[in-house]
Amino acid sequence: MKNLFLSAFLCICALPAFAVIEGNNILISTPNTSMLLNGKQGEVLRFAYYGDKVEPGMINSIKGGQLSLNDEAYPVFGVNAENEPALQVTHADGNMSLDLIIESISQSAVTNAELTKIVLKDKVYPFVVTLNYKAYKNSDVIECWSEFTNNEKKAVTLYKFASAFLPVRLDDIWLSHLNGAWASEAYLTEEALSPGIKILSNRDGVRNTLGGNPSFMLSLDGKPSEGTGRVIGGALAYSGNYKIMFDISNRSRLKVFAGINEDASQYILEPKETFTTPELALTYSKEGKGGVSRSFHDYARNGKLHNGLNNRDILLNSWEGVYFNVNQEGMDQMMKDFSAMGGELFVMDDGWFGDKYPRDNDKSSLGDWVIAKKKLPQGVEGLLASAKKYGIKFGIWIEPEMCNSVSELYEKHPDWIIRQNNREPQMGRGGTQLVLDLSNPKVQDFVFGVVDGLMTNYPDLYYIKWDANMTLANYGSNYLPMNKQSHLYIEFHKGLRNVLERIRAKYPKLVMQACASGGGRANYGLLPYFEEFWGSDNTDALQRMQIQWGESQFYPANAIASHVSANKNHQTQREVPLKLRFDVAMTGRLGMEIQPKDMTEADKIFAKNAIATYKSIRPVIQQGDQYRLVSPYEKQPFSSLMYVSKDKSRAVFFSYKLEHFVNQYIPRLKMNGLNPDKMYKVTEINVELGRDNAPGRSRNRINNQVVSGKQLMNEGIEVSFGGQYSSVVFELNAQ
Ligand code: DGJ
Repeated sequence: MKNLFLSAFLCICALPAFAVIEGNNILISTPNTSMLLNGKQGEVLRFAYYGDKVEPGMINSIKGGQLSLNDEAYPVFGVNAENEPALQVTHADGNMSLDLIIESISQSAVTNAELTKIVLKDKVYPFVVTLNYKAYKNSDVIECWSEFTNNEKKAVTLYKFASAFLPVRLDDIWLSHLNGAWASEAYLTEEALSPGIKILSNRDGVRNTLGGNPSFMLSLDGKPSEGTGRVIGGALAYSGNYKIMFDISNRSRLKVFAGINEDASQYILEPKETFTTPELALTYSKEGKGGVSRSFHDYARNGKLHNGLNNRDILLNSWEGVYFNVNQEGMDQMMKDFSAMGGELFVMDDGWFGDKYPRDNDKSSLGDWVIAKKKLPQGVEGLLASAKKYGIKFGIWIEPEMCNSVSELYEKHPDWIIRQNNREPQMGRGGTQLVLDLSNPKVQDFVFGVVDGLMTNYPDLYYIKWDANMTLANYGSNYLPMNKQSHLYIEFHKGLRNVLERIRAKYPKLVMQACASGGGRANYGLLPYFEEFWGSDNTDALQRMQIQWGESQFYPANAIASHVSANKNHQTQREVPLKLRFDVAMTGRLGMEIQPKDMTEADKIFAKNAIATYKSIRPVIQQGDQYRLVSPYEKQPFSSLMYVSKDKSRAVFFSYKLEHFVNQYIPRLKMNGLNPDKMYKVTEINVELGRDNAPGRSRNRINNQVVSGKQLMNEGIEVSFGGQYSSVVFELNAQ
């Protein structure tokens, strides 16, 4: 025992000041935040503080100033049974209790971060809980997760197994979170927390963000604000069922529990087996919700989003242009037209595959990932040749975790689908869709093989859109033993992760989009394997404004795929100008989802100009800091947001007019994030075309003026909009 503790101290002494252990204080810090835990070997681990950065010399002041709590850092069920636990198990002998004390504490440097591991052990049973705290140096995020190791002789069952627990001193705390449904994902909801328990959870099994999102913000100083107030943000790095619980059963505390949703998922932990939970990424800012979002954006781009620091290409996706009506001629024409507008990448969506059962609609073929020869007689080679001819890159759609009952795959491997043995499976999309059982290593090999096969046969494939359009219905696995059927929700996602690990090990440069019936897979469990996610199947500019505003709370612009589509919009039937459609899509990863041959000449010219403009502002939008200014959720006739480059030399300001009234008063819109001491030249961009499709002229007096950052932020600017659904975009360049 003594030696263990000594070795913990030794490895700590050599560390830089990011993590400090002194006496019973365990201080874990990022550049601007700190978490303080208390405890020594043989003691219960306690949570003291999470917030603004604390230098080691200030620990006593935190404690003396009563800023520290003295709560259990990871409450377990057993000796104490009255409070909600983070962990609840049943030992092999039927005993349901845990009583954990610190066994050892260690800290080590890992890539871009420092990892603190606190090993807790039960006083009686050889059951070990390791709490992990990974403090990043390149973002203000501390990742927290738990590991459970069973050193008992027989299996232990885990009934509750939260990744992390966070106690917060109770005040006027507001919760911000996302919710919604297909085509209206990520709607931002804000509410004051009140006594009782509030749970954010998901049970889809496959897509965990089609409705809600495994993430939250807690505004600690009353009603949430974009720019001020203390805010804690949390995002669970998990793609399966989640549960985030906010418990105010006691008058002085908000207790936050976050992790895998344990419903129907009790886990049998075999002797010597370790169960590792997903990470909860925590961040804190005193610059309001905007500060928390910028911190998540940095966290994503600096490592949690695949190739997060790369700028993304401007693409045209074939779906809304032709739906299943894919053929060589049509794809060639779309590529030609898009290339003429300056596009960089073409993605052929659903409808290209199936030999015995060609995919002409959603009723067949998933699983048969071979070219539909009648539609595409020249194969993928023909499509790649077209892309080459027009100087653009080429990508393809797949939905590899799924199959249709009408498919060769199903005929060969009916045992590969998720279903209960003694019941007829319920089918999903098209009346024939089923989910493959990714707990089965053979199925994992198959799914890996879908990508591997495509990449081996067509190494010039640049991009894959990976879709997933069904809930995990028919809960039951042919592969898992009967006593471990309750592992399926978890094993499905472990299997998916295994496959993605293999793909990324072999194809690190392949660009991949996570799509799941639209925005069903916007989570930090999958983003390490994907460059981006599809924001929503709803491409209506007005609704997208709200959806993307929601998604931007936790995810950066280069992760949010955002497309300009046709007029009328296919989902809402709304008609809005092409300029507004571009001005909304340009706040994320710009793309198009339209049949170019149906566009007017004027629209093509506008699109060409807008694409060229986006190329020049792309680094500011995709890699800069986002400042949300006026929310589209407020009952105001306009909304606005902006992006500022990290060195504050460039910015792009977007504003939208949502409603029009006679004699309408629009107050000045105040910018944010600029350098107050710099002078910026303000230029209107993306201006509507003038007569004869010539470049349009700005109607804004501020156009081409040089104004100080201070004035732009303190006084704001007057925006001269047109009528309803008009929009104005300014580029700012420091002089
Ligand atoms: C659902 C996706 O969200 C759409 O973008 C499209 O890819 C269809 N699936 C294709 O079936």
